[in-house]
This record gives sequence, structure tokens and C-alpha cells, in this order.
Amino acid sequence: MGSLGKDAAAAAERVVLAVNSARHEAAGVDPSTTLLEFLRTRTPVRGPKLGCGEGGCGACVVLISKYNPATDEVTEHSASSCLTLVGSLNHCSVTTSEGIGNTRHGYHPVQQRLAGFHASQCGFCTPGMCMSIFSALVKADKPDGPAPPTGFSKLTCSEAEHAVSGNLCRCTGYRPILDTCKSFAADVDLEDLGLNSFWKKGTDRADVGKLPEYSSGAVCTFPEFLKSEIKGQMNDIPAAIAGQDGWYHPKSIEELHSLFDSNWFDENSVKIVASNTGAGVYKDQDLYDKYIDIQGIPELSVIDRSSKGLEIGAAVSISKVIEVFSDGTPVFTKIAGHLSKVASPFVRNTATVGGNVIMAQRLQFPSDIATVLLAAGSTVTVQTASKMLRLTMEEFLEQPPCDAKTILLSIFVPDWGSDNVIFETSRASPRPFGNAVSFVNSAFLARTSGQLVIEDICLAFGAYGVDHATRARKVEEFLKGKSVSAAVILEAVQLLKDVISPSEGTTHPEYRVSLAVSFLFSFLSSLGNNLNEPANAIAPNGSCANGPEKHGTVGSDDLPVRSRQELVFSDEYKPVGKPITKAGAELQASGEAMYVDDIPAPKDCLYGAFMYSTHPHAHVKSVNFRSSLASEKVITVISAKDIPVGGKNVGSGFRMLGEEALFGDPVSEFAGQNIGIVIAETQKYAYMAAKQAVIDYSTENLEPPILTIEDAIQHNSYFQTPPFLAPRPVGDIDQGMSQADHKILSGEVKLESQYYFYMETQTALAIPDEDNCITIYSSTQLPEITQNVVADCLGIPYHNVRIITRRVGGGFGGKGLKGTHVACACAVAAFKLQRPVRMYLDRKTDMIMAGGRHPMKVKYSVGFKSDGTLTALLVDLGINAGISPDLSPLMPGHTISSLKKYNWGALAFDIKLCKTNVSSKSAVRAPGDVQGSFIAEAIIEHVASALGADTNAVRRKNLHSVESLRTFYGDAAGDAPTYSLIDIFDKLASSPEYRSRAEAVERFNGGSRWKKRGISCVPITYEVTLRPTPGKVSILNDGSIAVEVGGVELGQGLYTKVKQMTAFGLRELCPDADGLLDKVRVIQADTLSLIQGSFTGGSTTSESSCEAVRQSCAVLVERLKPIKEGLEAKSGAAAPWSALIAQAKMASVNLSAHAYWKPDPAFVKYINYGAAVSEVEIDVLTGATTILRSDLVYDCGQSLNPAVDLGQVEGAFVQGVGFFTNEDYATNADGLVVNDGTWTYKIPTVDTIPKQFNVELINSARDQKRVLSSKASGEPPLLLAASVHCAMREAIRAARKEFKANSPLTFQMDVPATMADVKELCGLDVVERHLQSLTSAAASAAV
Ligand SMILES: Cc1cc2nc3c(=O)[nH]c(=O)nc-3n(C[C@H](O)[C@H](O)[C@H](O)COP(=O)(O)OP(=O)(O)OC[C@H]3O[C@@H](n4cnc5c(N)ncnc54)[C@H](O)[C@@H]3O)c2cc1C
Ligand code: FES
Ligand code: FES
Repeated sequence: MGSLGKDAAAAAERVVLAVNSARHEAAGVDPSTTLLEFLRTRTPVRGPKLGCGEGGCGACVVLISKYNPATDEVTEHSASSCLTLVGSLNHCSVTTSEGIGNTRHGYHPVQQRLAGFHASQCGFCTPGMCMSIFSALVKADKPDGPAPPTGFSKLTCSEAEHAVSGNLCRCTGYRPILDTCKSFAADVDLEDLGLNSFWKKGTDRADVGKLPEYSSGAVCTFPEFLKSEIKGQMNDIPAAIAGQDGWYHPKSIEELHSLFDSNWFDENSVKIVASNTGAGVYKDQDLYDKYIDIQGIPELSVIDRSSKGLEIGAAVSISKVIEVFSDGTPVFTKIAGHLSKVASPFVRNTATVGGNVIMAQRLQFPSDIATVLLAAGSTVTVQTASKMLRLTMEEFLEQPPCDAKTILLSIFVPDWGSDNVIFETSRASPRPFGNAVSFVNSAFLARTSGQLVIEDICLAFGAYGVDHATRARKVEEFLKGKSVSAAVILEAVQLLKDVISPSEGTTHPEYRVSLAVSFLFSFLSSLGNNLNEPANAIAPNGSCANGPEKHGTVGSDDLPVRSRQELVFSDEYKPVGKPITKAGAELQASGEAMYVDDIPAPKDCLYGAFMYSTHPHAHVKSVNFRSSLASEKVITVISAKDIPVGGKNVGSGFRMLGEEALFGDPVSEFAGQNIGIVIAETQKYAYMAAKQAVIDYSTENLEPPILTIEDAIQHNSYFQTPPFLAPRPVGDIDQGMSQADHKILSGEVKLESQYYFYMETQTALAIPDEDNCITIYSSTQLPEITQNVVADCLGIPYHNVRIITRRVGGGFGGKGLKGTHVACACAVAAFKLQRPVRMYLDRKTDMIMAGGRHPMKVKYSVGFKSDGTLTALLVDLGINAGISPDLSPLMPGHTISSLKKYNWGALAFDIKLCKTNVSSKSAVRAPGDVQGSFIAEAIIEHVASALGADTNAVRRKNLHSVESLRTFYGDAAGDAPTYSLIDIFDKLASSPEYRSRAEAVERFNGGSRWKKRGISCVPITYEVTLRPTPGKVSILNDGSIAVEVGGVELGQGLYTKVKQMTAFGLRELCPDADGLLDKVRVIQADTLSLIQGSFTGGSTTSESSCEAVRQSCAVLVERLKPIKEGLEAKSGAAAPWSALIAQAKMASVNLSAHAYWKPDPAFVKYINYGAAVSEVEIDVLTGATTILRSDLVYDCGQSLNPAVDLGQVEGAFVQGVGFFTNEDYATNADGLVVNDGTWTYKIPTVDTIPKQFNVELINSARDQKRVLSSKASGEPPLLLAASVHCAMREAIRAARKEFKANSPLTFQMDVPATMADVKELCGLDVVERHLQSLTSAAASAAV
């Protein structure tokens, strides 16, 4: 410790911060406490949410403000609170979503606009979105300069699009969030913004005056009291370096060294941090009890610009580096451009450049920054225990990993000027901007002479499965002195392939090598002017070869997102049918909406975390904990033996389908199975302690695990589909085949799994109650089933278990049977310990246990005529169901149902529901249907390709007639006028516009070698089932109305539609039905208040719940009408609502009505229709796909709420895009999920949605058999995303045509088609082939 007195030292050690302008002291907190944990457990703040804990989702974003007393300036930046350590925030001010607006003080315009643009569904991402937008506004409005027009900020549309580039949302599909951001941009055309509640699109004029008013600076981000406190301490003795709470903040290198030299310093228990974002990459494996924060050392913060170059302190944030470098020579500007694709704004704002380089040097982190700095000839200054060194970046990277006491002080980047120096950087990653590390990155610097001879060159590559960024020296040597020609590039590329050698275990090694080749090729081509390219060919960098613009062209990544929505509105049942904003949307945006983890912890609450097996089939012999700080936090472990007598080891189960065990006991039956629950005092301790478990397995006397569909078939390991769920074949398959002119036998296609990626992971809070009762707050789609399973598990009657669910932070099927395991686990622990127990799964555990979508393997034989008419289809379908039946027996029916969208002539199938030793697969939004619909498309494309016919023509030819629809679907086909698919398809695919776009695609492909486009139209059918559903409407004495429904609000707008239906149902009692809307509150699901709630899923819960509510209202109307008439007769005027209810109360009328709605047995199913055209562009060199445009037409019937349904359509489509393109839910050889976080599992982000995203909701025909003639919208539109996959296939086909060799035009393209797959299908060696052809052409010309 320094020379401070004890009291002064104690004061200096305290972390004082403002949270939403209130003073807080972080005294006595564990030094590993993150800001997020501090806010959520030590303050009333709940807005920032835990979505990933790794900086990858943005749910936790807050604004951090700092005050400089010397200049009296406040600076602000967004940050991920899940990675920021609270110890680093002394004298900082933190603003959260509830700090900028809330119920009590009024909402902020960002929150109001998020609500008004319908940009919040489940709402779990919304506070984070809100703070990213707010931070962007604060940043944009900061600099001096001309004031923006009234009501706008200085933000530009382009900045607005990047504002939320690192924030994930699984519900909305981002389009309305983007509109919200853009509504603040000074350069926006408000007419371009989508559906909103501020003006009526198409009829009203868009006007900023109609938007909730924005003026910058309205929120105080730094309170005066803290400024005074800081000023008051300005003259105090410098802060101490040591803190009681284990937080050390040295102010000089000397102080740092004195800490290193102290006897307590041990690099295993002391963590040295700059801004701690590295913890998002390399998760802490144990607790640390001491932290050394190096940000206060002045040498680490220098920014020194001279004529020689720029010196940047290691603790300077990446955002600051971007700012400094943007204002420089071309090399600096290019570096800034590359760095702005690193991570996301809220990570870059705190992440330091030095932390990144150290991670690259010490931990083999696939850094972008190390690569670009290496190529730019940077040097580093390093302080070791004994000396200060200046090394080139290359020397530094090549040294053995530096020890914990080596400190990177600064980085120097020389100023290369701009004469004859060419610098380019590249990265290939699944998202252009949204937070994804690259498969390969590169940076090249060349100095050329006047004749374009390469005088000097530096070629740096990184991230390809190499210890650190490296220079391709052999290639550099070869190129020096050469002028670039095809032959020279070819030789360079061949040399490079020897240099780029991904280490063992690197995923997609060949792909990565081919990327490196592509990057080098692109760079060298831009240097050469004699490659014999045709004059109009598009060069690899996207510009026109030989044209004037070789660099800096706008890539398709940078295109602004545009959209159009066409909806049908009807007043017939108002307020049903109005696009009212989602109930509680502003509350969600402010962060006040309560999710399970937001419920304040009850007294004595304990926390649990699962320990899961990593073995697919083994006896669990023992569980021990390694000796560590975290292990000391274990209070107890709950296992199968703690299940009460009379209970059973069950974690989930569905009536008539089967059950799954809660604990893998005594044998673990799949990798990821729960073995036990570690209980600790806090959730973090529980997570960390569970990581310390060492499980001893034995496979003695056990069969080897069955992991794949092939294994299961070999071992006859199947689940049976109950006859009532089994799909039925159509027609005579032999006859159909005999009518065929052509047959394709044994075609194959494969679909992999998909993870739900709800933003709120599985969570429950169990509170034991008197007399063997228990209350569980559960984030579940199945409260009733959860109640039943928990009771069975505990061995108590069902009425002892109350499940309460207010809202769920995204479900998509995952909060179904998987959620019940978490509720059961909490229940068993709470019962045993007689204390409340809460579990909130960390993202990794959630991903490992979740199971997800069913992988499928399909073999098909199809018969067809020469004109494309299908005659017969025989499908062999293998479905990997995992360890338990779960909902898998529903899969065959669903898959075949949507496959039947075409008239196959005859249809037969053999479906095997494979029981395997992997986590059981469950229903994921559009379960089975999305696979079935895609399988149909794969077969149609195969047929079209075999015939050399236009795929859309084959599709159109085989769409059902009304008669064949009935043959295939039976009663679900409905009345002829409701069959809208043909009209929809024709509207999209047979229109002149489509033809001209298809021609434009062809023209583009003819003129572009390295970018290819494809366009495709996909129709869908989706059969849904109506289910019995309860509803209850109660009118309270003041006239307010409480409504209960069986369904749960998952973000799908159920409660909003129910509110509208309540007002509609009671309209006869109150002429102002719109006014009634404000009186309705739909209250949480509670299994003891409303029974038979069944489950929320299958897309029909909203309409069924609405119908049950309508029936309840009808009962109330009947009871209250006579009273109303009596009142009106007396007064001669319409009876006010309040008087009516007062009178009814006096008359002892029962003001609560309950209904259990059952669908008409003759109308239990109906079909939904839609189609989508997607146009994509693929980059043949990298495999990246840009969705240029998607046009969706969906028959929504008479929409109950067009805004809600539009949100469902867009959100489902984008979730489907993830399934078809990027989401790789990979497992290891034991079936354990390895893509288990935001680092490796990439859901779509704002930069990967269609650049033009148009949706039209149509109402084809009235059908009073449906609820107010409405249709479902939750799941069916997900199937439309197959249009993107099909368009990609067209684009790949165009690439294969261009590059010919070994590339048949008929090919299997599985799901997902990732970047690596696209590149592979185009040909990993296209560059070499192209160069060879140029070289041979040049050689022949020379002869
Ligand atoms: C979600 C996310 C996405 C990301 N995406 C990318 C990406 O696309 N490309 C990319 O290149 N990077 C990416 N990163 C990495 C990011 O750039 C680094 O996490 C960050 O720069 C580390 O800085 P820090 O200050 O937070 O370091 P810390 O986490 O504080 O430290 C990291 C390590 O470096 C040590 N350390 C820090 N500073 C010094 C120093 N001056 N001297 C000695 N040791 C030091 C620490 O002891 C620790 O071991 C991403 C990170 C996150 C969280
Ligand atoms: S929780 Fe912090 S970024 Fe996901
Ligand atoms: S609203 Fe964005 S994740 Fe649900």
C-alpha cells in the first residue's frame, strides 16, 4: 500500500458511482463483480439483462459517463455491463434504460418510438436496443456543428443503421428497430419508414411533429453531486494502489511493479485487466480474489501524433483508435475502417487495443488488430519485469507467450504517406458488421514504382488457425521486383498455399486457405493492369476492371435497408383489426417489464447451476470438485437422491408421448444431460462452482452410444409414432412411378439442427410454501404441463403446485418441455432445502442442454413427366429425435404436411424417428414444417435441373388444384375460395416485374465474374390445429377489467390481441370500445387460477384465447345488458361504463365469466398460404451471401392486429434465414454441442437481413369458421426463408457455369448453407482455375 493514512485510503478504495443519478457505493463487493451483476443485485435497476455474458448480444448495454474536472467535460459511451467490472467505475455515472425514461417520469422518445414502430416483441432485447440507440444519439449530438432540423438528431441514416449492429434480437427481424433508429436521423425520408402508430401509412403525411419529440441533452447523464464529489477530491492525495475489496489500481509503472513484487501476487488468483472484455472471449474458469486495473497508468493512455507516425497507448479503446486513425493518411484510414468491423460499438468503446494485441500474442486470439498492425509495419513498446523493449510487431508476436508481468505500453504505427503505397485489409466473417470474428483476415501493404512494379510488399494473414498473425515472407520475396500478371499471381497463390496451413482441429481448413488465396488475388489484381480481363468484368474488389474506381466502392454490405409493407385494415370488428401497439411495449423498452429473473430475490434465496455430462453414454461414478476459489462457494449439490419419496426422476413429459428424466442417474445417456445441481449463494458463484466439477465416468458393460441417424438405423433404435399422429400416404406410388417419363432415384438432402436463441435463457424461481405446496415463477410456454411434471417429480398433488408466468423473453418452442426441467430442478432443490431456489441458465449451458430442431436426412425417389408434371414421390426420412420422445412423434405429421404443398401425384414415405444418445430434440418454431417445405423445394429443384427447366415453372405446374388440395389435406383444405396460394404465387412469380428482375440477374451474372446473383420464388402451405382453450374476464368495481387466458405472452402479441378482443366482446355494453381498451389488463398465467391452460404453441394460441375471451364477454354482456337497458330507460341517455358496473355490483351480478372454448370438431385444422421471392448476391471469392431483396406475401386472413402479424411474419422470416444460412449448431464426436455461445453461433443481425424487405399481408377470403376470419401468423412465415436458400442455389449454379470444371449444375445443397459451404459449392479453387485459364490464354496468344 502507498503512503496513505488508513481513513483516506479507505475512502479512496471505495467505488462511488451514480446509477441513474442516484449515488451508490460498491463497498464490500467481490472484485469480480460485473456492472451488470451489481446493477441487478445491488440496485433497483432491472433494465440491463443478461443475454450471453460474453459481449455478444447487447442485452446488457448501458451508457457510462466520465467527468473531467479539469475541463468540466462529460464524455459518454455505451458499454456491455456484463463485461465491465464495477471496480473500474469509480466516479463514473451509469445510465440505464429506466434512467432515460420510465412509467413514473414519462418515457423517453427512444422508448416511445420503439413502441410506436412496433419494434418490441418479447422485449428482452429492447432495453439494450434502447441504450444503443440512445448512446448513438448522445454521440452524434455531441460535436459542435450546425444544429439538426427540429425533432431530429445529428445522426445520419448510415450511423443509425450501425447503432444497433451488435445487438441481437430474435423476435422482430430488426426492420422496425432500424426504422426507430432512422426516425431520429436528420437525413431520413420519413415516408420511407415502415408501419407505425404515429401516422397512417399511405394516407397521412409523415411528419416529424407526429413523432414523440426528441431534443438532445434532455437526459442528465452525469449528476451534479458526483461532479462536486470529484472536484472535492481533486486536491486529495493520489488514490491508493490497494483496495480492501481486492481491487488495485496502480497509477504508475513503479506502483504496478511494487504490486507484482508483493508477496500476495500470484498470477493464478490475481487478474490483470484493462477493460475486461477479454473475459467475453476467454471465460474465467475460476474466481479471482484480486484484480489489478492498469488503465490508470499514464503511459498506457498516450496518443501522440508526429510526422513519423502515431503512438497509441495500449489502454486506448478501439473506438478512440478508430477516431484518431480516421483522420489520417490512407493507411491510417484503412486501419480505422477495418477496426470498425471489430466486435460491436459497445465492446469497442471500452475494449483496448493493447488488450487485443496481448490476447493475440499470449492466447492465440484470432485478432484483426494484430494482423492490420503487422502489415502496417507497427512496433510495440513493452515493459518486462526488468526492462523496457521496443520490438517490431512481428518480433513481439513471434516471442513465446509473454508472462503476466509483461506489460504492453504502446503501439507505434508509422505514417506511410500516400505516394505509391497501397494498403488493403480484408476479413471474411459470417456478419459484415455485427460482431463476428473472421475465418481469415489479412492486411497487405505494397509500395510500387511508377511502372507498377512491386518494390516492397508486406502480406499479413491471421485468424486462419494459426498461433498469431504472420507474414507470408516467401510470397513477399517472390513478388518483390515483379510487375503483376496472371502468371505472377498464380505463382504467388501457389506459394501462399504452402504458407497458410491451419493447425489441426481448425474448422473448415480448406475454406480458410481458399479465403487467403482470394484475398491475395484480389489485392494483386488491383495492382496489375494487364490481367487480360474483359473490359466490363467486375473485378474482385467489386469495382470494374480497368475502370476508374478500383478502390473504395460501396459494397452490398453497405446498402441501406429499405422496406415496404402493404396491409389490409378492417374496421368491421374494431378495435380488433387495428394495428395498435403491443401491450406493455414502452414498459419493455424502459426495462421495467418484469421477467422471471427480474423478480426481487426472496429472503434466503439460493441459486443453482446444472452440472452436465460430457459423455454420451456412461455410468456416473463420482462427482468431485477441483480445489479452487469457486469450489469454496458450493453450498450443496442436489442430485437424483434428493427427489422426495413418492416422487420420481422426471424432468419433462407430454401426455401420451413419454417422459424424460431430470437427472442422468445412474447412467448419463447423452452429453449435456443434467447430473446434478450446484447450489450457491449467488448465481455467479453457482455458475463458477459448477465449472469446477470433475465427473468420473465408466462405460463398463454399456453399449456404445448411438449418435447419428445412420447409427440408429443400423441398431433399429426408434421411437414409435402413435397412429393418431402418423401422416397418411396419398395415392398409389407404384402406379405414379409407372406414369413417369423420368425418375430420379435416391436423391439426398440433409438438414441440421437449429438452436432457439431466445434472448432470455431458461429460468425459474421456486418458493416452497406451507403444507408441501410450492410456487414457481417459470419462463415457460407450458404452465399446465410444468405444474403436472413438477408435482409428479415431487410426488405431491397437482393443486400443491402453482406455476406463474407473466411474460417470457422469447420461446420459439424452447420454453416448452426443456423449460420444465429447470422448473423441476428448482423445485427439487427448494423442497429439499426449504429455501427459495432460483436458476437462470448461462448461455453455454442452455445451448448445450437445449436440443433444438430435429436434424433430418432424406432420400427420395421422384417420378415426373417431360413437361414437369410430378407423378410420384417416395421419401425415406430419418429424423434424429435424441434421447427421449419429447414432441418428436409430432414431427412426421408436420414434415409431411408442409411437403404436401405440391401435387406429387402419389406420395409415400418411410419415416424413422431415431432414438439416439444426444439431447432430445424438441419443437422449434415451425417444427418439422420448415424441413418438409424445404425438402419439397430441394426435390422440385432437382426435377427442374434434370429437365433443364425453369424451377418456378415446375413449381407452378405442380401447385394443387382445389381438388388435389382436398385429396392431400382432407378437411383442412377448407372451402375453395380460401385457397389463395395460386394467386399469391402468380402475383409474385408470374409478374412482369419478376421476369424483368430475373433477366437483370442474368445480365448481372453475364458481366460479373466474382459476384453472382440468384432469384427464386417459394410457395408455402402450413396446416395448423385449433385447440380447446380457457379464458376468463372479470370486471372490477372501478370498471377496470382483468383478463386471464391459457396462453402465455412470448412476444407474439397474444395479450394485445386478447385486449382488443375483450373490448370488442364488451362493445355492446360500452359504445366507446376503444376507450375500453385502456381498461383491460391481461394478467399473468397462473395454473391455480385458470386451469386447463394447456400450452402456447402451434401458432393458434392467440386466436383460440381470443375466442375463449369473446365467449366470456358474451356471458357478461348477457348478464349486464338488462341492467344497461334499465339505466338507459331511466336516464334516457347512454349508460356510462362506470355507472353500469356500479349498478351491476349493487345488483349482485356476477362480474366474472369463464369460458372453455372448444373448436368445432368439423373445423379443427386449416391451412395458411404464402410465398416469397428472394434475390441474393454471393461473393464467389468468400462465400458471403447478401440478401438483396425479399418480397413476402402472406395470407393472414382478416388480421386481428396487422402490426402484430407483420411483426410475426418479418421475425419468423429472419429466424428462418438464420436456419437456412448461418446457424451452425455443431456438436463434437460425442454429440456435445460445441458452438455454444455468441462467438460461434451466429443468428442474423441487423446487417444480414434483406437489404430490401417487403411484406404484403393479404386477406384472401372471409371464413367465419375461423376466429373472426383471422389466420395464424406465428410460425408459417418462417418457411418462406427457403426462398433465400433457393436463390443462393441459383447464384451458385451461375458460378459453377462460369468456372465449369468438375461442377455439375445439379448438386445437393444442405441446410444450413454457410459461407464455407457456399464457397465450397462454387469451387474452392476458382481463383487458381481462373488464373490458369488467363495464363494459358496469354501463352497461346504469345504463340
Ligand atoms: C463480443 C466481442 C467481439 C469481439 N470481436 C473481435 C473481432 O472481431 N476482432 C478482434 O480482433 N477482436 C475482437 N474482440 C476482442 C477485443 O478486441 C478484445 O476483447 C479487447 O480488445 C481486449 O481489450 P480489454 O481492454 O478488454 O482487455 P482485457 O480483457 O482487460 O485483457 C485481456 C488480456 O490482456 C491482458 N492485458 C490487457 N492489457 C494489457 C497490457 N497493456 N499489457 C499487458 N497485458 C494486458 C489482460 O491481463 C488479459 O489477460 C471481441 C471481443 C468481444 C468481447
Ligand atoms: S449480456 Fe452482455 S452482451 Fe450479452
Ligand atoms: S423483442 Fe428482441 S429478442 Fe424479443
